Amino acid sequence: TRQWRGVIEEYRERLSLRPGTTPVSLREGGTPLVPAQLLSELTGCDVHLKVEGANPTGSFKDRGMTMAITQAKEEGAQAVICASTGNTSASAAAYAVRAGMVCAVLVPQGKIALGKMGQALVHGAKILQVEGNFDDCLTLARGLSDKYPVALVNSVNPHRIEGQKTASFEVVDMLGDAPDVHVLPVGNAGNITAYWRGYREYAADGPATRTPRMWGFQASGAAPIVRGEAVKDPSTIATAIRIGNPASWEFAERARDESGGLIDAVTDRQILRAYKLLAQREGVFVEPASAASVAGLLQAAEQGQLEPGQRVVCTVTGNGLKDPDWAVAGAPQPVIVPIDADAAAERLGLA
Ligand code: F0G
Repeated sequence: TRQWRGVIEEYRERLSLRPGTTPVSLREGGTPLVPAQLLSELTGCDVHLKVEGANPTGSFKDRGMTMAITQAKEEGAQAVICASTGNTSASAAAYAVRAGMVCAVLVPQGKIALGKMGQALVHGAKILQVEGNFDDCLTLARGLSDKYPVALVNSVNPHRIEGQKTASFEVVDMLGDAPDVHVLPVGNAGNITAYWRGYREYAADGPATRTPRMWGFQASGAAPIVRGEAVKDPSTIATAIRIGNPASWEFAERARDESGGLIDAVTDRQILRAYKLLAQREGVFVEPASAASVAGLLQAAEQGQLEPGQRVVCTVTGNGLKDPDWAVAGAPQPVIVPIDADAAAERLGLA
């Protein structure tokens, strides 16, 4: 047996890195592909969850960040910057520590989950809360990296997309071929772009015989691709995907069109229902944005867009611990008991 070595070492020959480059890695990737029992029952399909919350910083961003930081270090950068709804900043902060770099992050004020802010803080990032949304933060970050000696590590950095495509490789390596459908939440649209690239490369080079249809889901209050125009004031409880003008918009449309897929919207209510279903019926705790993929799958099934018997993979992008407010909200307060077995048994309904 050997330990998983991280996405660069595992897939080096398929990544755009100079030979001999030393990876900056936390051994990201190699995440579980979990059969989803209830979702399979509900849809009549063979549904699997790609659990990206199992990455070192708790989200899929680590796959791209190992590449972006490795490349930045190779080029001699001493500082990196990103705009983020939270997960990119948490990942950048951790990998910058490994690389001995300064990390600056720009986040929308008051709109990032506490767990993600805690990560950026504990890893020692320089954090600015911007009086604007994610799109404003990205504009600022791009401007700063143009003018000052600081490398931009958002997914507009091509190395991020390169790293993130490894998730498709893992799915094919585990299932033996590409699924019929791959479902993802869509925010800045980098991940759907990356998965589509990974699937195409594997189909072109042999490990897969085909590519899946790509299904992307945005939150209905932040659904610019579905509406066909930028959203000025995006709003959703899924703060990770509260984005009104995605950087990889055109690539996402290309993934949709070339794969015969779709990009649609789900409401916050649907997202929360899927969030609870994943936790209560599949045992998988994700953050709200991640549940958008499963909410979308259920919506598509109800609309008759799924053929029974198909193999489906849903990526759940981030760990539920990032944003525990939604787990606690509305749940009953656990009862208080004395140190007494009879009292405990009674309250548990055992007596
Ligand atoms: N799910 C989670 C948990 C995310 O953090 C993000 C994006 C997405 C889905 C959407 O992925 O942007 O590639 O379409 N989070 C970014 C961030 C924007 O700053 O952490 P995408």
